[in-house]
Amino acid sequence: MDTIASALVPLFERAVFAHRGLSSRAPENTLEAFALAVDRGATWLETDVDILADGTPVIIHDSTLDRTTNRAGSFYPLTAADLEDIDAGSWYGKEFAGARLPRLSDFIDFLNERKVNANIEIKQNEQGAERTILLIDAVAKELERLDPERQIIISSFGQPLLMAFHQRHPQYAIGVLYETAALYDDWLAVLELCGATYIHPEDSGLTASKVKQFREAGFGVNVWTVDDVDRANQLFNWGCTGVFTNCSDQMMHLV
Ligand code: G3P
Ligand code: MG
Repeated sequence: MDTIASALVPLFERAVFAHRGLSSRAPENTLEAFALAVDRGATWLETDVDILADGTPVIIHDSTLDRTTNRAGSFYPLTAADLEDIDAGSWYGKEFAGARLPRLSDFIDFLNERKVNANIEIKQNEQGAERTILLIDAVAKELERLDPERQIIISSFGQPLLMAFHQRHPQYAIGVLYETAALYDDWLAVLELCGATYIHPEDSGLTASKVKQFREAGFGVNVWTVDDVDRANQLFNWGCTGVFTNCSDQMMHLV
């Protein structure tokens, strides 16, 4: 069983992941949101990555541009040059007008410059296996530029995707994301098959007993998305290793 933390990520005690940056105070998944999180104490960021038509990995949560930019529709047909014309900040507030959808390469530069760590969630690309493998390999290629002192966890809801990532790039720590309703009893097999170091369960319905089972099986437990400070404290007291939160600035005293 390969549940040993990778050289890049030892099993940590308590981590607060700034979910899409400090997304309660800045437009999610922009460099502005990441910078604000770090300015206010975050040492771990969470972000989401998918792929453009030209193979550029791009930072965005949704599968369309509609909610978080001034454009609509799929970003799959776009290229990196198109990102210059997309405003990913105005929807949140006019003071963020002109914020861009970052490329993963911008995010890697940011991690290196600010000396912080990241959970990179690979989105379940909707264009099939070939594009999914391209995405996996493009992410791994970008990670080659990462300062070796930085720590990275690769996560996804896509279990086949994670298995493929682990088989192709086994040097990176894996976290398997679960919605509560999809946390079936085969979780141990899934985690082992994905070469996971961490399980990333949804907060809703998570119990102390379940956390104990995960920890006793040897996995770190990083829970999403936890915006209540008391709940985060309870989860840490149960033995959780991390929480993903939109308000990391309010939680740094817990670590
Ligand atoms: O990685 C934790 C969390 O980000 C997973 O869900 O939909 O916010 O990407 P989502
Ligand atoms: Mg995410």
